[in-house]
Amino acid sequence: MSLPASQDFDADVLERSSTRGRPRRIRASQHLLAAPDPSAPAIELRDVTKSYPGSPPVVALDGVSVRIDQGEMVAVVGQSGSGKSTMLHVMGTLDKPTSGSVLIEGIDSSVLSDDHLAAVRGRRVGFVFQRFFLLAGIPIIDNVANGLLYHGAARPQRRAAAESVLERVGLGDRMWHRPNELSGGETQRVAVARALVHEPAFVLADEPTGNLDSATSASIMDLFASLHSEGRTIVVVTHNEEIAAALPRQLQILDGRLERDVRPDSR
Ligand SMILES: Nc1ncnc2c1ncn2[C@@H]1O[C@H](COP(=O)(O)OP(=O)(O)OP(=O)(O)O)[C@@H](O)[C@H]1O
Ligand SMILES: [Mg+2]
Repeated sequence: MSLPASQDFDADVLERSSTRGRPRRIRASQHLLAAPDPSAPAIELRDVTKSYPGSPPVVALDGVSVRIDQGEMVAVVGQSGSGKSTMLHVMGTLDKPTSGSVLIEGIDSSVLSDDHLAAVRGRRVGFVFQRFFLLAGIPIIDNVANGLLYHGAARPQRRAAAESVLERVGLGDRMWHRPNELSGGETQRVAVARALVHEPAFVLADEPTGNLDSATSASIMDLFASLHSEGRTIVVVTHNEEIAAALPRQLQILDGRLERDVRPDSR
């Protein structure tokens, strides 16, 4: 896959839908490089629907509206098939909604080109996928270092950053292993390292502790908590009720709808 150069996006002109005042037009390069308006939500879904064609079609998201502010840490819970991964993919602009709007830092993603969205993901979003595939032929340090390809860093810098984040997930002694030499839980930790290597503003994690024992799960959640304390926005899909209950906010999804939005501290 070839990655477009950053200047490809500089000519894009897009519209910022401000929560206050009238929308104003800005250049894409400003959005990518400048600090976002702190009052804009990190991610906002407005009446988002996602259906997959078929007979009958599958309605994976059914009119979801939710606002996640910058710096929040949120759990997403719900039964298997309820739409959690779909919602995360739509939040991360990997999937387009069938109807409704997705705003990233106040900007309606529908006005952005696919190249621009890819650049936003490459620079600002860290995605931990539920099904994660590593490139088989290269050591895990390079699988992780590839997460920096958008940043124009030279290979030694990319590897140094990969080394540091692999140490943070407890894989400092496995960096030169190939993917087929890792356990399932270690592979899951590589997925987390890959998502974090470019120090993303948003981390969208789909079952990041799904295959892990409780001690390793706790260390991954500690890592997310420390990223949260650095001001990053974190959304974690989890089936683990203990993990969900420990986070400041829980979104409960049922049949593609946002059933409950719970903030235990503010009750
Ligand atoms: N590409 C697709 N084509 C058709 N249907 C799909 C597609 N992706 C997901 N679905 C369906 O959409 C619904 C929501 O799927 P989703 O993956 O979002 O669920 P989930 O809540 O993440 O489940 P799990 O906890 O099992 O991961 C499911 O019924 C699923 O079968
Ligand atoms: Mg899922």
